Amino acid sequence: MKYFARAPGKMIITGEHFVVHGSFALAAAIDKGALVKAEAFEDIEVKSKELGLVASDIKVPHPLKPTIEAIKATLEFIGEKRGVKVEINSDIPASSGLGSSSAVAVATVAATSSALGHDLSPEEIVHLATISERITHGKPSGIDVNVSVYGGVILFKIGEKVKLIKLDRDIEFLVGYSGIERQTSKMVAKFSEMKRMYPNFFASLVSSSSCLTEIATDALTKNDLTTLGSIMSLFHVVLNQMGVSIEELDYMVEKALEVGCIGAKLTGAGGGGCIIALPKSGEARIVAEHLKKKGMNISIVKIPCMGVEVWKEER
Ligand code: MEV
Repeated sequence: MKYFARAPGKMIITGEHFVVHGSFALAAAIDKGALVKAEAFEDIEVKSKELGLVASDIKVPHPLKPTIEAIKATLEFIGEKRGVKVEINSDIPASSGLGSSSAVAVATVAATSSALGHDLSPEEIVHLATISERITHGKPSGIDVNVSVYGGVILFKIGEKVKLIKLDRDIEFLVGYSGIERQTSKMVAKFSEMKRMYPNFFASLVSSSSCLTEIATDALTKNDLTTLGSIMSLFHVVLNQMGVSIEELDYMVEKALEVGCIGAKLTGAGGGGCIIALPKSGEARIVAEHLKKKGMNISIVKIPCMGVEVWKEER
């Protein structure tokens, strides 16, 4: 029996990087993600359409190592002797800050276990997908995997239960892609440099990030876009000062504000990847058109979006 799993990518609304050091961060699932097909097989075989690569349990091209390890961990966890044949499709550009590796890991774990007749709990999927994310990113906070599993909007802090944030209406954001790839682990190391030189100042910023993220969460639930947007822009300045922005992202933030967005910032690890911008209510389309005319790669993301879903092939 073939099973499919679809897991969303994410955008971090506030608190990226600081979250690695204990701050709250606010993140939302987006309507782009990874689709994984899996069926029981005698060995392990993984095909990635985007990467044009195939891996087996004996020959693993480097980019597919995290996926193979997620599958092996899943088989061990559910006590399966059989293998699995997996096919991955993703519509999130790799290394863009939109959680492509987490979406692939989450969908792979969910499809693999289902194809072998095991239902995993959300916590178990988070646990197994994190094994893959550690290979990709070193020491991730876990926010990407959690938002991909639970979907919607989450308030996340390391070591605390994920808080699912209810929205009583849809909210539109813009995502602007710089087209520049970067490595999350390098950006995390760069951001953390200040911790060694100014540990107390750094700790104070982590706690400011937590407070501001809680205010931003409250503003999001109350549809107070003015407060939310101003906190987003402030985060961009701080992330820039911490060395994880680049000119291209600053330019996109500036242009998003020029055409009337309420707030804008880089999202994810920075150093390339994407910005997010918050348009005034009902203005997403028109503002997106203005930005496209300026040559920017823009899409509109409506939140909240679903977390990981699994279904049999007949569907
Ligand atoms: C990456 O999507 C977000 C970072 O905060 C790293 C992490 O949380 O693991 C930069």
